Amino acid sequence: MTQTQKILVTGATGTVGRQVVAELLDRGHAVRALTRDAARAALPAAVEVVQGDLTDPEGLVPALEGVTGIHLITFGGAFFAPLETGPRILELARAAGVRRVTVLHGGGPSLLEDAVRADDGVDWTVLMPVEFMANALEWADGIVASDVVREPFVSRLSAMVHEGDIGAVAAVALTEEGHAGQEYVITGPELLTVGDKVAAIAAARGRDIALVELTEEQAVAQWRAAGHSEDVIGFLLEAYGNTPEVGRTVLDTVEKVTGRPALTFGRWVAEHVAAFTKGR
Ligand SMILES: NC(=O)c1ccc[n+]([C@@H]2O[C@H](COP(=O)([O-])OP(=O)(O)OC[C@H]3O[C@@H](n4cnc5c(N)ncnc54)[C@H](OP(=O)(O)O)[C@@H]3O)[C@@H](O)[C@H]2O)c1
Repeated sequence: MTQTQKILVTGATGTVGRQVVAELLDRGHAVRALTRDAARAALPAAVEVVQGDLTDPEGLVPALEGVTGIHLITFGGAFFAPLETGPRILELARAAGVRRVTVLHGGGPSLLEDAVRADDGVDWTVLMPVEFMANALEWADGIVASDVVREPFVSRLSAMVHEGDIGAVAAVALTEEGHAGQEYVITGPELLTVGDKVAAIAAARGRDIALVELTEEQAVAQWRAAGHSEDVIGFLLEAYGNTPEVGRTVLDTVEKVTGRPALTFGRWVAEHVAAFTKGR
């Protein structure tokens, strides 16, 4: 049984951050959550919500007061623009007495992550999840409107991870001994193709879904229409068209760190089936 600790979660209103918050609360810890807009945060009542912006580190000083750990994201603006204030945030965190830091790796170079890795004054853990199961929500509109998913590279394999597992690994690393200096690649428990995922969603909602394979050109056009930046499109083409081994290898990180097996895509679909159903 670990002692109750107070943790500052940044990115707390995001896909991963909400899970970090939930897992910390589940373990009996106190959570302070950072958001740029407290009125829209919609976090659980037990959370202390504080307003602040990671691009303005000096403004974070009150939020850092009295916390033992901090969960950090590496971006701070539209299109996941990398934060340039990372080193200063870390300095302030150390000055405030923060002992443990987790960083959600952003898939690219990051001043914040570099500063954390170079800091021997805090116990840091870098979280490197593979593809999030939540990415399947991008199919929800097409499924609800016309029972169809349009994707390129449909036979690519993914070890996609449930966001709850990222949150659970973060919560343990932030509050327990034994995770300092670790770089955790976090995956789900199975390898799935796009077809496997679509079939799981169709089975859960009790209605067929057509899977239409797009050419690369068609996919780029679709991503542009959805508002993705050229950087993101380049990243998606590489990640989906030429998935690196790390993205298609199942690891036991979740079980090793949390003591329970990683959550399946079937479980994720059961939790989110309403998003894929008419009248949602
Ligand atoms: N999608 C994937 O498959 C995948 C896989 C591996 C890694 N990743 C990485 O995961 C990260 C995205 O995480 P996510 O999906 O959880 O994010 P998300 O759902 O898009 O949420 C973004 C969060 O960042 C906060 N935020 C943005 N700019 C901020 C600023 N200037 N100051 C304070 N807070 C700010 C937002 O808070 P407020 O709006 O409340 O202020 C919000 O909580 C990226 O680094 C991505 O590279 C993604």
